[in-house]
Amino acid sequence: MIVCLCHRVSDRDIAAAVQAGTRCFDVLQDDLRVASSCGCCHDCAREVFDSALACHAGTSSSDTVQTP
Ligand code: FES
Repeated sequence: MIVCLCHRVSDRDIAAAVQAGTRCFDVLQDDLRVASSCGCCHDCAREVFDSALACHAGTSSSDTVQTP
């Protein structure tokens, strides 16, 4: 699904960015330019980003801080 028409950013692009380590929406905007022109996609992009983060957190234990 295309999320940002201005920059042709898809939900898969956003998920891939999260997989690659993006944890901040501002960084996502800098990297993919999503929601950086007309802004119409901002809310949708944010939802997709938050969902991808939640999904990644649920499947990855590498970000978990291990305490002895
Ligand atoms: S649709 Fe994403 S900035 Fe315009």
